[in-house]
Amino acid sequence: MKTFGYFDDKNREYVITDPATPFPWINYLGNEDFFGLISNTGGGYDFYKDAKFRRITRYRYNGVPMDAGGRYFYIREEAPLSPPEGGTIDPSAKTIEAPSGAVGGAPACIWSPGWKPCKTALDSYECRHGMNYTRITGSKNGVEASVLFFVPLKTWAEVQKLTLTNKSGETKRLKLFSFTEWCLWNAATDMENFQRNWSTGEVEIEKAPLSPPEGGTIDPSASKTIEAPSGAVGGATTIYHKTEYKERRNHYAYYALTNAEAQGFDTDRESFIGLYSDFSNPQCVMAGKPSNSVAHGWSPIASHYVEVELQPGESKDFIFVLGYAENEQEKKFETQASLSSPEGKAPLSSPEGDTIDPSASKTIEAPSGAVGGALLTSLGSLDRTIINKEKAHAVIARFSTVEAVDAAFEELCQMWDGLLSKFTVESGNERLDRMVNIWNQYQCMITFCFSRSASFFESGVGRGMGFRDSNQDLVGFVHQIPSRARQRIIDIASTQFPDGGCYHQYQPLTKRGNNDIGGGFNDDPCWLIFGTVAYIKETGDFSILDEMVPFDNQPGTEVTLFEHLRISFDHVVNNLGPHALPLIGRADWNDCLNLNCFSWDPNESFQTTENNSEGSKAESLMIAGLFVLTGKQYVELCRELGKRSDGAAAYAKANGEGSDGAAAYTEEADRAQGCIDAMVEVVKKHGWDGEWYLRAYDFYGNKIGSKECEEGKIFIESQGFCTMAGIGLEDGMVDKALDSCKKYLDCEHGMVLNNPAFTRYYVEMGEISSYPAGYKENAGIFCHNNPWVIIGETVARRGNDAWEHYTKICPAWIKDQQLHKVEPYVYCQMVAGKDAAKPGEGKNSWLTGTAAWNWLTVTQYILGIRPTFDGLEIDPCIPSTLTEYKVHRVLRDAEFEIMVKNPDGKESGVTSITLDGKTVERDRAIPATPGKHTVEVIM
Ligand code: GLC
Ligand code: GLC
Repeated sequence: MKTFGYFDDKNREYVITDPATPFPWINYLGNEDFFGLISNTGGGYDFYKDAKFRRITRYRYNGVPMDAGGRYFYIREEAPLSPPEGGTIDPSAKTIEAPSGAVGGAPACIWSPGWKPCKTALDSYECRHGMNYTRITGSKNGVEASVLFFVPLKTWAEVQKLTLTNKSGETKRLKLFSFTEWCLWNAATDMENFQRNWSTGEVEIEKAPLSPPEGGTIDPSASKTIEAPSGAVGGATTIYHKTEYKERRNHYAYYALTNAEAQGFDTDRESFIGLYSDFSNPQCVMAGKPSNSVAHGWSPIASHYVEVELQPGESKDFIFVLGYAENEQEKKFETQASLSSPEGKAPLSSPEGDTIDPSASKTIEAPSGAVGGALLTSLGSLDRTIINKEKAHAVIARFSTVEAVDAAFEELCQMWDGLLSKFTVESGNERLDRMVNIWNQYQCMITFCFSRSASFFESGVGRGMGFRDSNQDLVGFVHQIPSRARQRIIDIASTQFPDGGCYHQYQPLTKRGNNDIGGGFNDDPCWLIFGTVAYIKETGDFSILDEMVPFDNQPGTEVTLFEHLRISFDHVVNNLGPHALPLIGRADWNDCLNLNCFSWDPNESFQTTENNSEGSKAESLMIAGLFVLTGKQYVELCRELGKRSDGAAAYAKANGEGSDGAAAYTEEADRAQGCIDAMVEVVKKHGWDGEWYLRAYDFYGNKIGSKECEEGKIFIESQGFCTMAGIGLEDGMVDKALDSCKKYLDCEHGMVLNNPAFTRYYVEMGEISSYPAGYKENAGIFCHNNPWVIIGETVARRGNDAWEHYTKICPAWIKDQQLHKVEPYVYCQMVAGKDAAKPGEGKNSWLTGTAAWNWLTVTQYILGIRPTFDGLEIDPCIPSTLTEYKVHRVLRDAEFEIMVKNPDGKESGVTSITLDGKTVERDRAIPATPGKHTVEVIM
């Protein structure tokens, strides 16, 4: 079977060896504010915080060919005209064979290290996707080009370190062109409002000389950075993107070559590429020279042109920095003071040592590095157009030496060493280990950062952060950087309404709820309990519950976070339908089961169409199960708060002197438990279909997901949630439902969402039946909900079954990469199901709740290492063939080395536990006492 790459676990990399992957296989750069998506050929884009409102570079989704546009390098090697030493002249064809294989007088060889966009056949190619970095290496005719792409920590810029190495025995003269295309900030209007866009584009070009100009100084701390009077960094050539800067924007972007001199540049796309060429053959590259174009409207780009000579064996590094900066309103523009050149004005003629480029008459380089138009300002007229570049200069100076770049890269790698050292497993199964120790955790960080906003399937212009999505994502991430999870919980809760309902999504930049979609998704509130409890169990930080959090971000409406949890719980209790099951509202977890929608208009979106919930009888068994599961967490939390003196004290503080916090929490726990018990009874009575749990009741009160239905007889969500919640465990319901999942939903590639698939449109069910059979929510293998059933299997103590389901959707077990199509190192949202035309074909990779859920599943339910309010609970549910494994787990200030032994080949059940050599009770949590501990568990 054809493979396109392999795992390099030691370096925590996936190595792609064939650039023509079945789909672009991407990676993510950055993990805090500045982000990039990068494919294995260098495609993709960058943005700051919000992929819609602050798109920095342009990208065209669904282009032909696929994945066109990105950060590109073109390398051009001229064929020598005369036969070099050792070369021969072929008399029959006037061509001269150079030793490198280039043909004399023939067209130059033009190639790209990532194969694309030139697609010149390479002599070697390799792409290594690592933890927030990507290294792409290509070679051609004895020259190797290797580019390392990453975003340094706490930096609003992507750094690209290009290393050119001459591996041949002869001198190489190369021409290097960099390339990136600017997006006009708003990624949505950038692709539609051309009547405006094609007139607004503006750039600045800055070229600082290599030697210190008169009045300039040399910064001794960074040997290569010479401060020119304007603050520009010596030697750097920087192209600034400043569209709309003179009006309401206070941000700009830049692309700098920081450590070498560029001999030219381009900033206008048409001048560089040509109207009838494309990314693969830009006319400037074809001609072997830049046009030094200055963009005015149309499409601004940034390209550097560098001439490089390499002796045999020689290697040279070129550092490019693609950054973003924001200026305070009063400091937006260059001021006269900072512009004052040595004599108070910049010379009009080319300064000594500098040249005037005749082809670009407007770019006259002053010693300060000011260019063309900028000179006007330099001369004193304060027109409000020239960017104050202080911030860019600082970043450019910081990354102007290879040493500094390497150190920043090292820092990034160390951060990942730290993040990935909190939970590691050694099981003897390399697939399991690589998922747990590397890729599953990495994907959890990515889903935490991006929710469902920006991938090669999510265009970045649609959804922002989802209420339910983000709560689920943080459960997979909380052990990595708890403080960021804490802030996220507060941000999410701030979009709630006083009745416990909430906005379904919010924009990351503004943190405000998104009015286009609004609220009314009745599962949403429960997820806040799920996320918050996971945070507290990880950190022991109960103080988060005392945080004052507003409703709908309105100042003055603040109540404690605990109160937000209470109203979340009650939102379900207050919205019950005719069977006393939870009303579904617009939709529950399955956005496509639209029971109150009734849409016949193809021009409306199922997501935002009118909500006809008024008078509806539509109820959800998925929410019922979710309510029981998260409700139990809420009860457990209340009981814990009742026991804790700080919990009681906080209650007293919030409710006045004399109030008895402990009693109040216990009362609340009892009340909540009563609601849960009632729900359990209702599910048993009205939610059981004989062999599995029903899925829902529709608007009219008819069953959905029942053997009585013509199609869609069984659904996975209610099986997952009701088995996880253990509803009817004692009556055999859980086992039966799990068996039905195997019988009706399972196939070679995982469990499908529903069965049989819908073959026609059902207006009373909405979008689910809009999809062709086997795809997406209509009987696709929606990976997100497979782990729910797997956890259900562990509730039923069926370790072998849990394991089998786990390995079916786990990337490390993918057999046929060509069929699977998307990245073999991360989960995808959906794999085409058994009813599809091509079962097993994956789609929507990266941004899926599958990452967090599988992390939870494998670490807490299969390996069974579970944080509790007091410490760790150990409860493995594993395949009987797994005889032992070791887990290293950092929890708060405690560090555990846990050895689990399974001498009798059991699937679950612990016989004994020793902590630091002493026997401890099996069903008590191991306290997270600061320091190192060893734990031995015998099953
Ligand atoms: C997508 C959405 C998620 C939803 C799921 C099922 O993954 O991000 O919110 O629950 O689809 O429709
Ligand atoms: C579509 C998708 C679903 C997703 C929803 C979010 O309905 O099928 O997976 O959750 O859009 O808007």
